[in-house]
Amino acid sequence: MFGQVEAFAGDPILSLNDSFKADPRAEKVNLSIGVYTDEQGRLPVLGSVRAAHERIGFAERPYLPMEGHAGYREGVQTLIFGAGHPALAEKRVATIQTLGGTGAVGIAADFLAKHCPGRTVLVSDPTWDNHHGLFQRAGFKTATYPYWNRASRSVDFDGMVKALEAAAPGSIVVLQPVCHNPTGVDLNEAQQAAITDVLVAKGHIVVFDMAYQGFGTSLEEDAAFVRRYAERASCLVANSFSKNFSLYGERCGGLSVVCRDGDEAERVLGQLKLAVRRSYSSSPMTGGLLVATVLGNDDLRAQWTQEVETMRTRMDSMRRLLAEQIRALSNEVDVGFLTNQRGMFSFTGLTEQQVTAMRERDGVYLVGSGRMCVAGLTEANVPRVARSFVEVSQA
Ligand code: LMR
Repeated sequence: MFGQVEAFAGDPILSLNDSFKADPRAEKVNLSIGVYTDEQGRLPVLGSVRAAHERIGFAERPYLPMEGHAGYREGVQTLIFGAGHPALAEKRVATIQTLGGTGAVGIAADFLAKHCPGRTVLVSDPTWDNHHGLFQRAGFKTATYPYWNRASRSVDFDGMVKALEAAAPGSIVVLQPVCHNPTGVDLNEAQQAAITDVLVAKGHIVVFDMAYQGFGTSLEEDAAFVRRYAERASCLVANSFSKNFSLYGERCGGLSVVCRDGDEAERVLGQLKLAVRRSYSSSPMTGGLLVATVLGNDDLRAQWTQEVETMRTRMDSMRRLLAEQIRALSNEVDVGFLTNQRGMFSFTGLTEQQVTAMRERDGVYLVGSGRMCVAGLTEANVPRVARSFVEVSQA
């Protein structure tokens, strides 16, 4: 009956993570999947989340509504837009709880497929591979706009502007506003303003995918692009709490649609609820309660903000440490990119062949594109990673 079913080629990130787990070498280093680990290489349980867990305990578990937990949705809105944002004051943002950031992008794609069908979806080149997959699953064709300038290891801004200007009016454009995955390079404020002008003039529909809020500069500053954009035009914003709450397996995310007015927002919210109902009915509760409790309590929220800051500064110091140790081994390898890029990822410029050599010979796992998750570096493993990096770079 299923004889014709093709084998799954594997996911470039999740399947690689499975291979890492199966690797018997004790000295292996996981710099593949976008997961933050602490200096001991462990997934942190944040103190704020632990305190929230004690507060919520375990009580009955009714279904959440299709749109998710009310306090959670409010927390999403104030975190992304800031409490005084005009779009919130005017009650024109429709927000739902989603199954992580992936679920948010997936529901955004389903919503757009139904209400804005037949448009081209443009994603950055390169991007998180699943952007293509999620929009294609919803029935769209995906194309790319230039983003990465290999020679300068920075944003190909002119190429990006030209492509967005040349795209059909009303195209769907997926933008990562901060901590771009996989390159680690973001638009600066002037570039954000210029891109906003192009997007608004062309009537493009922007889907912001913000999975790393707090890992760039701060929770507030990382949201600045989205906040300014939402003052100018309607847009969709997918966000994730996987990384900044260290709640990967709880699948906590959100989707917010900024609308023209309150009436439009009500109708959009209804359609988002329907999209959720048709897909999985409603979100699970425990993770939602944890996030809602932290975001809804001033003390816990302040504690959490500090914990996000701790994660961010550790990643920055690991970038510097790796750059130093590579430089100590060789001054022929340019490591400026490590400290110029930000967030969880660095785009190393290593070829797939070099990445394979690091994995097979040294047990150092990077994604095939050359993406390194700097959040997996520790003082203990940096010497091994530096050596491996220099050896494959000079081979
Ligand atoms: C990543 O890019 O490694 C993370 O966002 C995890 C994922 O779902 O791919």
